[in-house]
Amino acid sequence: MADIESTGETKDFCLDHPARSEPFFLKGSNSLDWGMQNRLSRIFSPASGKTVMLAIDHGYFQGPTTGLERVDVKIVPLLPHADALMLTRGILRTCIPSSFGRGIVLRASGGPSILKELSNEEIAVDMEDALRLNVAAVAVQVFIGGEFETRTVHNMTRLVDLGNRYGIAVLGVTAVGKEMVRDAKYLRLACRICAELGAHVVKTYYVAEGFETVTASCPVPVVMAGGKKLPELEALKMARRAVAEGAAGVDMGRNIFQSEAPAAMIQAVRKVVHENATPEAAYQYYLSLKGK
Ligand code: 5RP
Repeated sequence: MADIESTGETKDFCLDHPARSEPFFLKGSNSLDWGMQNRLSRIFSPASGKTVMLAIDHGYFQGPTTGLERVDVKIVPLLPHADALMLTRGILRTCIPSSFGRGIVLRASGGPSILKELSNEEIAVDMEDALRLNVAAVAVQVFIGGEFETRTVHNMTRLVDLGNRYGIAVLGVTAVGKEMVRDAKYLRLACRICAELGAHVVKTYYVAEGFETVTASCPVPVVMAGGKKLPELEALKMARRAVAEGAAGVDMGRNIFQSEAPAAMIQAVRKVVHENATPEAAYQYYLSLKGK
């Protein structure tokens, strides 16, 4: 039977409970719409505020990268340990089970191969296809100081406009132009430009000197890119320092999938990112998992 207003005295309006208005857990993200915040919650853990994103998009400019020759065989077993997955739509559709329930960060820029000028990128995905794939965010390379700097900034701002329209976050990936020194001064410049022009999250490299000034001067979450393969303990130290110095997690590729034991390594990275474990303790955990 339809509920009618005259039975109001039996209802419980919880008048002693003021309506809750809680801030969203990610910095700089309070004014985003519900859909965008919901998608960001698929990338970042609301419990820790951090992410362990697995980057496997390297093939978009360098083909079958070592460790990614067979994504179906080598990467799919790692998925239960990843908060989010950064990849191209080609690999997503062909290799990743559609039951994967965490965040997909879709590579949305591309063009040149490793044989050409890398900054000469265009937008490589229609936002409608990103929606069809139900992604949490799109990722775009921004080559501050690069030969085609303006084009890559424009790629990002166009994706930000579309992302804001549809509620899909944009990850601005700072990429270094040929002549630029990768130091805190450069990364402050690159990250701040991405955030100022609308990126919802920025990805950048770790630098030993002054990384905390990079995260402090960037008003949106910064995630650390892994970079070239390091010994496991070194990679864990870098991830721990980045998080301690303000990063909202990591987006690591080679230091996970080129590890001798990728499943053990990604679980060790989770220890330093989500549980504040020391790198040494996480390394022991890595060794124990590797030995099994
Ligand atoms: C390529 C990227 C990669 O996703 C990024 O470099 C992360 O991978 P790695 O940890 O191997 O550096 O954005 O441009």
